[in-house]
Parts: sequence; C-alpha cells; structure tokens
Amino acid sequence: MYTGKMLESMKRVEATRKERLDQEIPLLSPEARQELLEGFHPDFKDDVFRKIKVGPSRGERAPKEFVDAFEAYSAIDPAKFDLSNVEVDVDVLVVGGGGAGAAAALVADEQGASVLLATKLRLGDSNTVMAQGGIQGADKANDSPAIHYLDVMGGGRYFNDPDLVEALVGDAPEVLSWLEKLGVMFDKTAEGTMVTTHGGGTSRKRMHAARDYTGAEIMKTLKDEVLNREIPVAEFAAVYELLTDGKKVTGAILYNMETEQYMVVRAKTVILATGGSGRLHVMGFPTSNHYGATADGLVLGYRAGAPLTYMDTIQYHPTGAAFPEQILGLLVTEKVRSIGGQITNFDGNRFIYELETRDVEAAALIRECLGRKKGITTPSGQPAVWLDSPIIDAKHGEGTIKARVPAMYRQYERFGIDMSKVPILIYPTQHYQNGGLKIDETGETKVKNLFAAGEVAGGIHGRNRLMGNSLLDVVVFGRRAGAAAAERANGMKKSGKLSLKHLDKFHKELKSARVGKGRIAPVLLPEYRRPETVDHRIDALD
Ligand code: FUM
Repeated sequence: MYTGKMLESMKRVEATRKERLDQEIPLLSPEARQELLEGFHPDFKDDVFRKIKVGPSRGERAPKEFVDAFEAYSAIDPAKFDLSNVEVDVDVLVVGGGGAGAAAALVADEQGASVLLATKLRLGDSNTVMAQGGIQGADKANDSPAIHYLDVMGGGRYFNDPDLVEALVGDAPEVLSWLEKLGVMFDKTAEGTMVTTHGGGTSRKRMHAARDYTGAEIMKTLKDEVLNREIPVAEFAAVYELLTDGKKVTGAILYNMETEQYMVVRAKTVILATGGSGRLHVMGFPTSNHYGATADGLVLGYRAGAPLTYMDTIQYHPTGAAFPEQILGLLVTEKVRSIGGQITNFDGNRFIYELETRDVEAAALIRECLGRKKGITTPSGQPAVWLDSPIIDAKHGEGTIKARVPAMYRQYERFGIDMSKVPILIYPTQHYQNGGLKIDETGETKVKNLFAAGEVAGGIHGRNRLMGNSLLDVVVFGRRAGAAAAERANGMKKSGKLSLKHLDKFHKELKSARVGKGRIAPVLLPEYRRPETVDHRIDALD
C-alpha cells in the first residue's frame, strides 16, 4: 500500500531518529509566527471568504461555505405552517445531544425546570464523544485559573472575550470535580494524583485525560446521568426552525427524521448546543468532526436574530490522518506530540516545534508541503508529513504508545499499521469553529431566552482554541446555560406566543438581497452524493 517514494522517505525518518532524540527546537518568535500565519494559514487567504448579505451580522466575513448556509431559505414556509398543534410544552428545550446539551439538561433539571433534550442523531453522537487528548483545568499547586487565563488569551491571539475566558478558567477546577463525582475516570498515578500533560500553547501541564478517549469517557458519564435521571430525550429529532413571538424565543419546530413528521414545541427558554460545522468542509478540507456537524444551530440562531462573532476563523487541527485514505481527516490527537511524537518532512528532518499553538503548527505543515515542497504525497494525491510516533517508545520505553494513546494505536492497527514501529502520515484537518453565536457569561445570545453553549457559541477562544479547552468549554457553558435558562423559566409566569415572524422577515431580506431559492438550511446531514444525482427543488417555496 505504501509507494516506493513513501518507503524511501520512511527510511529517512528512521535514519534521523537517533539524532533527533535529544534535539531541541525553540518556539518561534511572535514575528515569525505572524509571518507563517499570513503566508500559509487559510484564515489569512482572502479567497476563502465572502461577506454575508443578510441578517444581524450582514457585512461581516465568513468562509463561503458558511455564508451559503446563512444565505439560505428555510424548508418551512412561514405562511403555511400550522403552529396550533403544540405537542410539548417545557421550561427548557435543549437542542443537541453532545456534552454541552447533556450538561445543560442535567443542571436545568436539577433546578426544577421541565426539560426536553432534542437531538438529530442519538444522545451522545457529537464532537464531544470524539474528543481525545484531554480537558484543561488548573487544579495543580503550580497552576492557577489566572495562569490558565493567560494561556487561553495568548492561544486566541488576544481576540478572546475576556469575560468569557474568566468564566471558562474560573469554573474549570469545579467542573473537573463535578465530572469526577458523576463518575468520569481520569488517569491518575498510583498515589491518586491526576496525570497531566502539556498541550500546544500551555505553560503548565493541565491536560487531564482518560487515555486518549477523554471525550468518550466524559460523554458516556453525562449520557448515563441524563438517562438515569429520566430526563426526556427526543432522538432523531432535528430542530428545523426556532419559534419567536417577534422579540424573544418561544419554542421550536422539530422534525422527526425517522417518521418525517413535524412536532411543535413550546418552550420558555431554548438552549442551542448543536456543536460545530466541520462537515461544511471549508475549502474542501477533510474533517475530524462527527457526521452531524453541519452548523444547524448557527443557522437557526442567526435567522432568529442572534449576531455572530469571529466567523472568519476556523481551526485546522495540525495532525489529521492523511493515510490510509479510509481515515482521511480523522484526528490524531495532539497528545501524541505532547508525549514526544515529532513531525518530520520527506527527508526525516523536523521543521517546527511540535507544541506551537495549532494555528501556527498547521500553517507550518502547509508551508512544508505546499510552499517548500518537502512533504510526501500519498497514492490518492494527498500532501502529508510524517508524525514520528516510534520515537515515543524510543524515549519513554516500549509500550508507552499502547498505554498512553491506545485509541490511536487501534485506529492504525485496523489497517495493518503499527504506529509504535512506523511513523504515520498527517496533514491539517478542519477541526473546530473558533467563532459562533455571540453570548454573555450565562450563555445567553442577543435574542432573549435563547442561549447557546459549546462550539455553536463564539468569542471564548478568540481566533485559535488551545487543546483541551473545548471539552472544558462544553461543560462550563453547558452548565451555565442550563442554570440561567432554568432560572429564567422558573421566573416566568407564562410562555410566549408561537410565531414564525422572524423567518418571514428573514426570507424577505433574502429576496431583497436577490438570493435565489436554490439553497435550504439547515442541511442536517452532509451531502456526499454527486451533485447531478441530487434533486434541489424546494417545493415549500414554490
Ligand atoms: O488533539 C486533540 O486531542 C484534540 C483536542 C481538542 O481539540 O481539544
């Protein structure tokens, strides 16, 4: 399966391994980082973006694939849809079944609110469950939320919303102990102290992990808790549109993807926890994201009037799998580099310190392949560089890879590749939406009673998120939104009127901006069929 060139290059990596064992590569200077970003990071390429023509953030830039989703019609015709048959009436409707949704539902339920958690796939199907390397939290003697704060701000190139960062890092120690109490099994030493590692851009070892399936461990625990407490969950129930009374959010229309029936939900508050958008494949990048990451919450919240923030920045995780083709884009956790994995080019030479922040690291990989032409090309034409994983066992002893990153080991073993013996090929993959709906510290958007938590919200991570701050973010802001939404609902005497006025207004805006009726959003699932086989008519709008 390897080409002759790949095997020749692999030999070079093996040949340089010994001399690289003690090689130190310094961090880049701020000027060198900026130059690298401007030269090679997609966020700095004008042709990636377009200005949005409609809605509350009109005039702002976003990747074209996102603008297509914002400048799209609803599948629902506001003039024809019957809202009189309200099937469910709740205090808090949580939309999304990942970490943020589950955490929000648990806290809202604890506060005595009636909750429905609706998710378009199954409870737990999310980016949370796919998160690998860890969750940050300053709970060691040499660390503090203030140091964590500085790392987050530096990682985000100081574009972060300071109040949101304060909430993130301040809640982190409490979130770690909440998760432990619920049953999350973090890695610990024989003495019982947490095993922590560095991630790119961290000044302290504060990455807490469950091997390299940290997200799965956290999601399993949260999911079990939701089920044990018998919080109502509607699976395969996508939210197709939010409902408002013209001013504040009042509910949503769910679409049962199995029975193809609609359900009208009246809710005093709604929490969007729909996750990210990797399946939009900006500039054709592969993605590490789960199948449902199609920006649904962004589209729905935006149409309802919630402004966006930092939609012109996307995170490309430096180490997506580039080979074999069956796993193209899947995550190779940063933890592989945290525990000593090295990145080399075709000649087996390192060209960047492995724990630069992700934006800089990804730009360096792109430069090595496309700029300097020092990469490797896979049989499918994918550019790549090596992640020298065997050097981990060479440094720390045989068996380290199997013990510390077992999920990674299995990911490659399935294809006959033993990553403790041979290096693996990697290239940046679309991983995270740095921006999103603008929120305050309680998670509320600019639309009253509409909250957002997790990847759908923006501002926390500025223009670049650090490893392990997403698992933290989903739990911190899930809990905050759950608490605030429940408190708001508990203080409301009655629910608002149900209408699609905002949608009517949005459709009119689209028409006056001369946006054709050819696109509908949210798309709910990614479209991988060839375009000529797809029927794009929108009968509802004829
Ligand atoms: O590399 C990773 O394990 C990813 C972690 C994250 O995005 O936080």
